[in-house]
Amino acid sequence: MISIAILGNGVVGSGVAELIEKNINSIKNKLNKGIKISKILVKNKDKHRNSNNYRIITDKPEDILKEDVDIVVECMGGLNPAYEYIKMSLKQKKHVVTANKDLIAKHGLELLSLAKENNVKLYFEASVGGGIPILRPLKNCLIGNNVTSIKAILNGTTNFILTKMSKENLSFDKALKLAQELGFAEADPTSDIKGYDSARKLNILSNIAYNRNLDWETFKVEGIDKLDEFDILKSNRLGGTVKFIGISNIINDKIHASVRPVIVSKDSILGKVENEFNSIVIEGDSVGELAFYGKGAGKLPTASAVYADIMNVLINKKEDQLLFNKEPANLQKSFTDKKDWIVRIKVDNKDRHKIISKLSEKFNKVYIDTDDLLPKDEVFATIYSVYEKDLEENLRIFTDINNVKTLMIL
Ligand code: HSE
Repeated sequence: MISIAILGNGVVGSGVAELIEKNINSIKNKLNKGIKISKILVKNKDKHRNSNNYRIITDKPEDILKEDVDIVVECMGGLNPAYEYIKMSLKQKKHVVTANKDLIAKHGLELLSLAKENNVKLYFEASVGGGIPILRPLKNCLIGNNVTSIKAILNGTTNFILTKMSKENLSFDKALKLAQELGFAEADPTSDIKGYDSARKLNILSNIAYNRNLDWETFKVEGIDKLDEFDILKSNRLGGTVKFIGISNIINDKIHASVRPVIVSKDSILGKVENEFNSIVIEGDSVGELAFYGKGAGKLPTASAVYADIMNVLINKKEDQLLFNKEPANLQKSFTDKKDWIVRIKVDNKDRHKIISKLSEKFNKVYIDTDDLLPKDEVFATIYSVYEKDLEENLRIFTDINNVKTLMIL
C-alpha cells in the first residue's frame, strides 16, 4: 500500500485529496498496489469538522512523521513551517511533492540537493503556472536548446483583476475580492499585487532555463497597485492591453529579470490571456518561440500538477532529480532592448511647458498626449525607442520620482 500524507487542507490540499480519491482504482490498476491518504496535517483540526476526511485530519506534525509515509505532499504554502517539514521528510527518506513557490524560490538549491543526497525525489511542477506543465517540459523537452528568453503571465489573481478592470470596468477592490472568493489569491494578496509571487515563479523558471542561481529579491519588481484607469484607457487607445508580465532574458551570460505591468498588443499571445489563466512564452535557440497556456491558479488545475508529480514519483522512478546550479547569475538590472514608454509626470500647471520642453530636450522622439480624458495635472507622454537605463537617467531631472510613472510598451 502506498501511503501519502498531505500537509494542508486548503484550496490545493483538498483538491489533491479529491483527485487521489477519484483516481484510486486507476492507480491500483497501473501500479498493482493500493494507495491511501494516511494523514492530512492542518493548523487547527476543529476548523475541518465538516471535511469528508476529518477522521485522518490531524494538527500534530509528529503524527505525519511517525507514520510510514512514502510521499509527503506539501500544500500549506509560505516558508515556515513548510521548510522545516520538508527538510525533515527528505532526511527521513520520504519523497516530497510541493506546490510551494516561495519555498522553492528561496530554498530550492538546498532542498533539491538534500533530496538527491537522500536518494528521494522533490518535485514542484505546481509551483509555477498552476495546472500548466512547464517545469518538466523546460527541463526535458527543451534540452536541445539554450533558452534565450521567458515572457510570462505568472499570476492568476492579478491577471483576473486586470481582465475585470479592463473588460467589465470593475474596480480594483471588487475584482480582488472576487479573486479571493474564487480561491486564486494568496492568504495575503500583497504578494500577488506587488509582484512577489510572479517574481518567485520567474525565479524558478529562470534558474532552470539559464542554469544559474538567481535571487528574485534582486529583480526589478513593480506591482499593479499603482495602475489606474488612465493607464488602461491609454493602452486601449494604443490597441494594447495592460498585462502583468515577468520577463527574463540572457545575453552574453548577463541575465535581466523583471516583473512589471506592461502594455502588450491585444493580438499578441500574452495580450489574449484572460482571467486566472497564465501563459509562458519561452524562446529557445533551436525551437524558436513556444507558448504554454492554461489555468495558473485554482483548486483542481493546481491539484492536477501536484497529482502528476505524485504519479511521476511512483511510476518514473529512474528520472534524475532536477538540481539548481549554485553558480550565481550575472544580473543586469535594466531591460536590454530599446522600447517605447508611456511616461506620466505630475505637474503644477505653471511648470507644464517647462517639463514638456525638458522632455523634448532629453529624448529624440516624444509625443505629448493632450486627450481630454487624461488627467489635467499630468504631462502624459509617449517616449519612443529608448533603453530603460537611459530613460531612468534622463527622468531623474524630475526630482521627485514619486511624481513620475513609466509603463513599458513591450
Ligand atoms: N496566488 C497565486 C495566483 C496562486 O494567483 O497565481 C497560484 O500560484
